[in-house]
Amino acid sequence: MSAENVIDVRGLSKAFGTFPALSGLDLSVGRGEVHGFLGPNGAGKSTTIRVLLGLLRADSGSARVLGGDPWKDVVALHRRLAYVPGDVSLWPGMTGGEAIDLLGAMRGGLDGSRRAELIERFELDPTKRGRQYSKGNRQKVAIVAALASDAELLILDEPTSGLDPLMEAVFTDVVGEAKKRGASVLLSSHILAEVETLADRLSIIREGTIVETGTLAELRGQARTSIRATLERIPERAALAGLHEVHLEHGHLSATADADRIGEVMTLLAPYGIAALTVEPPSLESLFLRLYESEGDPR
Ligand SMILES: Nc1ncnc2c1ncn2[C@@H]1O[C@H](COP(=O)(O)OP(=O)(O)OP(=O)(O)O)[C@@H](O)[C@H]1O
Ligand SMILES: [Mg+2]
Repeated sequence: MSAENVIDVRGLSKAFGTFPALSGLDLSVGRGEVHGFLGPNGAGKSTTIRVLLGLLRADSGSARVLGGDPWKDVVALHRRLAYVPGDVSLWPGMTGGEAIDLLGAMRGGLDGSRRAELIERFELDPTKRGRQYSKGNRQKVAIVAALASDAELLILDEPTSGLDPLMEAVFTDVVGEAKKRGASVLLSSHILAEVETLADRLSIIREGTIVETGTLAELRGQARTSIRATLERIPERAALAGLHEVHLEHGHLSATADADRIGEVMTLLAPYGIAALTVEPPSLESLFLRLYESEGDPR
C-alpha cells in the first residue's frame, strides 16, 4: 500500500444477499490526482463509494482512505473529505446557504470568499429553502459546500447529474481549481466526456470488478482504429484475420484494428484494390463502449 495514495482498495467484495455487487475490486487514487471512476448502471460505483465513506461494510478485502480505515476512523476522515452524491437531499426547511454552512462546519469550516464566489459562479440563490430547490439546484448546494471547503479528498458520485451544460462547464473549472490547490478527487460518472477533461487516470468498473485502469493516453493506446474501405476485389474471410469487428458486404468493408497495426492492414488490403478508404483514429469512446458491453465472467 503506498503512502502516496489517498485511496487504496484491494480485493474488495460485497454481496447483497446472493448478489455480488463488488467482486475483488482494486482501486488506487494517488495524492493530488483526479481519478475518473467510470462504469455502466449497476456496475458498483456507488457501492464502492459507500464503503469508502464508511456507510457500508465490505465482506472482504481492504479499503484505506487518507491512510485510515473508512469504517473505524469515520469521524476523523469525514473532517478531511467532502462527498457529493448524485441525488442530493436537503433539509426541507433550511435555506441553501444554511445547508452549505452546516455541511461546511462538519469539515472544519469553509473558505468564506470561495463560498461567495462559487454561489455566484453556479448562479445559486442561497436564500431558498431546501424544499423549493430543483434537482440541479440541490446538486449545486452540495457542490458549493464541498468545493468551498479545504477537504483533502473530494469523493464525487455523479455530481453533475441534473446540471445543465453551462453549469457542467463551471463544475469542470471548479474541480480543476481544487486539483490545483492540491485536492485529490474520485469522480464517478457513466459518461466519458464528463471526466475526460479532468481525469489524470481512469478506472473502469463493470460487474463489480475493475476491467481497465490507466491514464487517458494508456487507455487510448488500447482503443482500436476504425477502417472503412471499398475494395475492387472481394477478399477471402481468412485474409482479414488480423481485423476485428469485420463487416464485409460486396466490396464494402468496415472493421477495426489495433492502432499499432494499421500499416499491416494497409498492406493486407492493397492487393484487393482500395477504391476508397477512411481511417478514423482510435476513440476512447469506442474503447469504453467495448469495455461496457464485452462479456466478462458470468456471475
Ligand atoms: N442495498 C442494496 N441491496 C441490494 N442490492 C443493492 C443494494 N445497493 C446496490 N445494490 C445492487 O448492487 C449493484 C451495484 O449498485 P451501485 O449502486 O453500486 O451501482 P452504480 O455503479 O453506482 O450504478 P449507477 O450508475 O446506476 O449509479 C446493483 O446491481 C444494485 O442493484
Ligand atoms: Mg451510482
